[in-house]
Formats: sequence, structure tokens, C-alpha cells
Amino acid sequence: MKKVLITGASGQLGLALNQLFKEKEDYIIYQTDRSEDSEHGIMALDISDEEAVNAMIDQIKPEIIINCAALTAVDLCETEEQMAYRINALGPKYLAVAADKKDAKLIHISTDYVYDGHASKPYQEGDPTNPLSVYGRTKLAGDEFVISHCKKSFVLRTAWVYGEGKNFVKTMLRLADSGKSIRVVADQFGTPTSALELARVILFLMETDSYGIYHATCEGSTSWYEFALEIFRQAGKQVSVEPIASSEYPTPATRPKYSVLDNKALRERHGYTMKQWKEAFVEYCQHTFH
Ligand SMILES: NC(=O)c1ccc[n+]([C@@H]2O[C@H](COP(=O)([O-])OP(=O)(O)OC[C@H]3O[C@@H](n4cnc5c(N)ncnc54)[C@H](OP(=O)(O)O)[C@@H]3O)[C@@H](O)[C@H]2O)c1
Repeated sequence: MKKVLITGASGQLGLALNQLFKEKEDYIIYQTDRSEDSEHGIMALDISDEEAVNAMIDQIKPEIIINCAALTAVDLCETEEQMAYRINALGPKYLAVAADKKDAKLIHISTDYVYDGHASKPYQEGDPTNPLSVYGRTKLAGDEFVISHCKKSFVLRTAWVYGEGKNFVKTMLRLADSGKSIRVVADQFGTPTSALELARVILFLMETDSYGIYHATCEGSTSWYEFALEIFRQAGKQVSVEPIASSEYPTPATRPKYSVLDNKALRERHGYTMKQWKEAFVEYCQHTFH
């Protein structure tokens, strides 16, 4: 039986991993998050607390650590830069150092926001990074710490994640219930990725020793506007949706205009293909709406 420590276990990806691990018998799972939730078997572990990270890893001695914890509120990061750095950069560093000491594998999750979005074709793993926001910069610093401090590390860059929790799908459905017309940005392109599809890749990769950086999004691409239309189609809701430019919806953090990722490493190193985004979204809707 292998011991797996999950951080950020109450978040979207953490919950999806929990769902998959329930079907597996060869692992002992230790779920942690910033706050304890004893009802759901979640212990408290703040990844930005170095001593707490070391104590937990010393005590559990996991073979595998999956870091799902992050400050994902992209706009909040702009005003809370220090907190963002502590959670998105130093937290992964502490985990990486502690994992390496125990010769454990570390799977760390990163983001398309490490790129500037000025490309016109999907980003590959070796392409230069150039984050536009505090979130992107702090996440990139986290990736670099993980790679430099832990020999057995995987960095998975993903995008537009939805699962159980706060996400674009839930926001659209809530706005739809208001009965008003909804304005959605139509000039930002990326790939909606189901937390469950991402969790499946993690379970696959963690049993390999092909360490390094991976892009891990669903296949294909779309705009937020087209995604909103698909959400309402699947949910059977009649909603008036107006496409707008990013300039008409200013936000504190600048988002990349085009952050489609090519899962080249997954495909070429493992022959692994993630689902098309619409197929994965239909799977999610079957659980959520039916
Ligand atoms: N969501 C996306 O669209 C998206 C896109 C690209 C990449 N990613 C990356 O994918 C990963 C998983 O994202 P997600 O969507 O599952 O995020 P999420 O739903 O926001 O979950 C993150 C979890 O981390 C916890 N957390 C925050 N600070 C912590 C700390 N100091 N110590 C321990 N736990 C802490 C959060 O707890 P609280 O709720 O108490 O803060 C939350 O339970 C993250 O690395 C994220 O950067 C996400």
C-alpha cells in the first residue's frame, strides 16, 4: 500500500482525486487542506507554514505528494501579492524540499497563466513563460522551486478547471437564474478542463518515473463566450448571451488572450490523450444536472 498525501483536498481538484482514489485499494490517502474538516476526513495543513509541512511529511512519510493547494483567486492575488507568493511559490518549495528528503514523488499543479497569451498556436512545454499577473508570476515561481528542489517531481500545467466548487460553470448557471442577459468575453481562448479528467492524468503519471513539466488540459479550444453557450445548451437553459471584448470587462489581473496548451509531453512520452473538452463537459453535466 502506498501512502499519498494530498494538499488542498477540499478544492475542485482535491475532491475529484478523492472520488477516484475511493475506487482504488492500493493507496492510503491522507487528505489535508488549510482548514480541518473532520467530517470529510481532512486534516489541517497550511502549505505556507514550513514547520507544519515538515512535521506532517516526517510523520506520514508519504511515497507520493499531490499539491492541489493554491491561492486561485486570480484578481485577489493582485492586491495580496505577499500571500499569493507564500501560498503559490513558498508552499510548493517547502513541499518540494521535504519530499526530496524522503525520496517521495511530488505532483504539483500549475497554470496556463504562466504564459502571456501572445501566441497564435498552442503552447508547448518548452515555450518561454511570461506571466502577466501576480497569480501567474507566483505560480511560475512555485514551478521553478519544485523542479529545482525535488528530483522526483511532476509539474502539470492546466487551465479553466471546473469541478465541484467555485468555477465559471457555476457562475454562469447562477447568473442565468437572475433572468438577465449575460455578457461574456469572446476574445480570450483556452480549454475548459474537467477536474476529473485532470485527476485521471495525475493517477496515471504518479505511477511513472517520467518527471518534468507537462501540459494537462482537455483537447481542443474555445472562448469563454462559446463555453457559456455550451453550458446553457447542456443545462437546457434559455439565456440571452452577449459576446464582448476583454476591454469591456476590465479586471484587476490581466488574463492571457490565448492560452491553449498542447499536451505534447503526455502524447509523445506516454501516448496519453485527454478527452475533448466538450466530451469531458458532457460527462460532468451527466453527474451535475441529471
Ligand atoms: N481553477 C482553475 O481554473 C485553475 C486553472 C489553472 C490551474 N489551476 C491550478 O490547479 C490547482 C487546483 O485548483 P482548484 O481549481 O482545485 O483550486 P481550488 O478549488 O481553489 O482549491 C484550492 C484549495 O487549496 C486550499 N488552500 C489555499 N491556501 C492554502 C494553504 N495555504 N494551505 C493549504 N491549502 C490551501 C484552498 O482552501 P481555501 O478554500 O480555504 O482557500 C482550496 O481548498 C491549483 O494549483 C491551481 O493553481 C486551477
